[in-house]
Amino acid sequence: MSPAPILVTGATGTLGQLVVKRLIALDRPVRVFTRRPDAARKHFGAAVQIAVGEFADRTSLDAALRGIDRLLLLSPISERLAADQIAVADAAATAGVRRIVKISGSDWTIEPAGSSISGDAHAAIERHLRTLSLEKVWLRPNAWMQVSLANTIRQVQAGNPIIAANPDAGIGYIDARDIADVAVHQLMADALAGEMLNLTGPEVVAARQVAALLSSAFERPVAAIARPLVAAAAEADFEHRAVAQFTALIAAGRAAVTTDVVATLTGRAPRDIQTFIAEHLAAEAALAG
Ligand SMILES: NC(=O)c1ccc[n+]([C@@H]2O[C@H](COP(=O)([O-])OP(=O)(O)OC[C@H]3O[C@@H](n4cnc5c(N)ncnc54)[C@H](OP(=O)(O)O)[C@@H]3O)[C@@H](O)[C@H]2O)c1
Repeated sequence: MSPAPILVTGATGTLGQLVVKRLIALDRPVRVFTRRPDAARKHFGAAVQIAVGEFADRTSLDAALRGIDRLLLLSPISERLAADQIAVADAAATAGVRRIVKISGSDWTIEPAGSSISGDAHAAIERHLRTLSLEKVWLRPNAWMQVSLANTIRQVQAGNPIIAANPDAGIGYIDARDIADVAVHQLMADALAGEMLNLTGPEVVAARQVAALLSSAFERPVAAIARPLVAAAAEADFEHRAVAQFTALIAAGRAAVTTDVVATLTGRAPRDIQTFIAEHLAAEAALAG
């Protein structure tokens, strides 16, 4: 008998795609929860079951969770972050799901409480998961290379300097492929490695060091320039307010953390930013033909 499918929410996004592709490669049945079945088909072909739905629609969640044993819980930063993930978790508990692997916020956005609206939302979800009688683990990844570092590379490619509130503040950037590897490990493992896993890359790197690496990659000077912090406008949306808070926390050195969790669980060192930059630029060059 084939194993029950694993349900992945946020499957068409940056990290979800990596998780789904790894599960497919392991021949594990996968069901993806999406509002955009065409996008899911384009990403994954016929290799996945598609459950069309939306977090706020309980009927669609119940249908997606039928026959599911394990769930990857992921949704974007938004005003609805806590409400959406708690709705999925509650529906999962009712459906008899045995294990939830949640993608949470970076550890430094969650603790201490009260410094990040997005970290506080993730903390509320983690607290809620604790109340449910199922196996659960939340991964707290540091800043992702595929998001913040890729954005920095794009700025430099456009001829701009690197702008940072504090160019000497370090970040323990993690490659999203390592997050996906750990997520899949925890979805498949006989037993979970803990309740909370703080995931980082192998080293702490500041904007000034990123500038030096990009100088050598592009063979031209790249400057790292300090720009004072700007608070988000009061009327800014949740995501923009959250990002402004991340910037302030990073400038204060809070993201300058490394842990050995990726190495411990995968048996190899996490990917470093030199490798990420080289692969990112090679992939772009290949696309450009
Ligand atoms: N970037 C970082 O440095 C970082 C660090 C730590 C933690 N995180 C966490 O990572 C998460 C974001 O991951 P990501 O960047 O991979 O996400 P993403 O690329 O923004 O993808 C979001 C996914 O959520 C789905 N989605 C959005 N609204 C939905 C709805 N109402 N109903 C059903 N599905 C919905 C979308 O699927 P469809 O459009 O197909 O429906 C999409 O696949 C956040 O929780 C964030 O806190 C990020």
